[in-house]
Amino acid sequence: MDDEHPHPHTDHHHHHHGDPTTMTMSDRADAAEEAAMHELEELVATKSSLFHLADGEVKVDTSQAAWAKNPKARFLMGADPRLPQMPEKPTLVDYFRCRFASTNHLLQSATHALKGGHPEKVVMACLLHDIAVVGFIRCDHGYWGAQMIEPYVEQEVSWAIRMHQALRFFPDESVGYGYPEMYVKLFGPDYKPEPYIVAEYERARKHKWYMTSRLITVNDIYSFDPNAKVNLDDFVDIIGRNFKQPKEGLGWDNSPSAHMWRTLMWPTRFL
Ligand SMILES: [Fe+2]
Ligand SMILES: [Fe+2]
Repeated sequence: MDDEHPHPHTDHHHHHHGDPTTMTMSDRADAAEEAAMHELEELVATKSSLFHLADGEVKVDTSQAAWAKNPKARFLMGADPRLPQMPEKPTLVDYFRCRFASTNHLLQSATHALKGGHPEKVVMACLLHDIAVVGFIRCDHGYWGAQMIEPYVEQEVSWAIRMHQALRFFPDESVGYGYPEMYVKLFGPDYKPEPYIVAEYERARKHKWYMTSRLITVNDIYSFDPNAKVNLDDFVDIIGRNFKQPKEGLGWDNSPSAHMWRTLMWPTRFL
């Protein structure tokens, strides 16, 4: 790799402005001018209100506020250049590679299920069970994840992912699943799931696909092994057989959850 230009796609952001404390007046004026000029070229990435809520603020990004800083600001309505570039017609594998912040847990769970000799739909459910955590929204992640994949997988797979949200809080001795010790540490010994989770668990317990969802919790590996050799390539064929990749690209199709994939692809669009 050429040492002079280690990041050819991002170095346009890194003009040298110098340390303001050691700059002369004219240096500073030049730097300010350069920054202003630079801003003209730049598109403003907008944070959704949900992102502000996560910072503890009830707030909305407005065009007025951005224009107060730069009257010529324009707003991103497409790809955010700070993020890995997605192909024109993305596949589920592209989201794994470019948008999911960590895939080790998913790959370890799926590998565990595969080694346990479970059917492919169980392996697939394990592979996708936490995509909402690593790529979208953490709270109620079983529901978000299930909704995102629902149009593209067997109903049993998305049902299992939806229900693992509740099942993980309840033991099942018949398969050796106990309440995770990690949860005592994470939520305290007195934590009790919300009533809607208890009700969901009771419905799932009686359902014909109960065991598919239960197997997600059984294969959900908490003790991450940093040395485990897991590779997405090992699952590309399973994804091919169990995920209906839309020909337009995942997000550009007309499915009921396509907008969720588009949001993940271009999360800072103004509208
Ligand atoms: Fe989960
Ligand atoms: Fe998990």
